[in-house]
Amino acid sequence: MADIVVLGGSGFIGRHLVERLVRDHHRVRVPTRRAERAKHLLVLPTVEVVEANVHDAAVLRRLFQGADAVINLVGVLQDGRGKPYGAGFAAAHVELPSRVIEACRAAGVPRLLHMSALKAASDAPSAYLRSKGDGEAVVVGARGYLHTTIFRPSVVFGPEDSFLNLFARLQRKLPVIALGSPQAKFQPVYVCDVAEAFARSLWREDSYGRAYDLVGPAVYTLEELVRYAGTVSGHPRPILPLGPRASYLQAMLMEFAPGKLLSRDNYYSMKVDNVSDAPLPFGIRATPLEAVAPTYLAAGHPRVRYFTFRNYAGRTWREP
Ligand SMILES: NC(=O)c1ccc[n+]([C@@H]2O[C@H](COP(=O)([O-])OP(=O)(O)OC[C@H]3O[C@@H](n4cnc5c(N)ncnc54)[C@H](OP(=O)(O)O)[C@@H]3O)[C@@H](O)[C@H]2O)c1
Repeated sequence: MADIVVLGGSGFIGRHLVERLVRDHHRVRVPTRRAERAKHLLVLPTVEVVEANVHDAAVLRRLFQGADAVINLVGVLQDGRGKPYGAGFAAAHVELPSRVIEACRAAGVPRLLHMSALKAASDAPSAYLRSKGDGEAVVVGARGYLHTTIFRPSVVFGPEDSFLNLFARLQRKLPVIALGSPQAKFQPVYVCDVAEAFARSLWREDSYGRAYDLVGPAVYTLEELVRYAGTVSGHPRPILPLGPRASYLQAMLMEFAPGKLLSRDNYYSMKVDNVSDAPLPFGIRATPLEAVAPTYLAAGHPRVRYFTFRNYAGRTWREP
């Protein structure tokens, strides 16, 4: 049993990773800006949720006291503009890793797992990927005195993802989908496979100082993924693929829409194919999208909703 601090443990990937670590009987501390956001973790027996400002060096040092390992999952997808990136990306993806490393040193934590993103690079076309690339460089720079491992997933799918669920939700609401960057390529990886990679790497010395791409078994275009989410959720809509100029314009206009579903920076990210030849590390077999996505996307399917309603109404349950 080890003591592990998971920054960003309240998020989508975090909740799966924390559950996975608890299964191995580790004690897990999860700092969050608002405890309310991490309440789903409170039912887990060896998890401690702490409301804390992780950008404060002294707070980090206190959080890391006595820890055997730190896992940093903190990340943001949208930010204001700036060169080479905005202040939000700088704070979350570059300055925070730097503070985490300093706090590990000060508290004597020997092990750090760091979450980056596939195709992160200091000269990438998007500010998100540039800031993630600079964050990786900071972590690589700490190899002399910390056992570090970096993970670089493609887009991650699973029950609470904000990716396939979004495409399904949009098709429930809209009669037609005008789709920017339809030919952008992704290699979606299952969230439990990502959690497994982190969990297995923790004490493996052969993973010290290394970076791993995390991808699923198949490559899809964005259009294929949107079509798939519509079909499986029971609301397939006609898709209108947009060319590069219209895609850029759409991304720009969406920056003013509530919820900021898309930005020009996302458009720039999609200029790079989000794919990799590398198999999952540590003998993990990549889970196909089709084996998992129907279990959560189909929850909104009209047939599933009909039989769920009948079930609640006391009629005999029948599988949809
Ligand atoms: N999901 C994907 O498809 C995907 C793909 C590639 C890489 N990644 C990377 O994987 C990591 C986790 O992604 P996710 O999908 O799980 O994200 P998520 O659900 O949005 O969770 C983000 C987590 O980071 C914390 N966080 C966000 N902004 C923060 C800030 N400014 N200061 C402190 N904490 C902050 C949040 O904590 P609180 O709100 O509780 O404070 C939350 O726990 C990120 O680094 C992301 O870039 C994700």
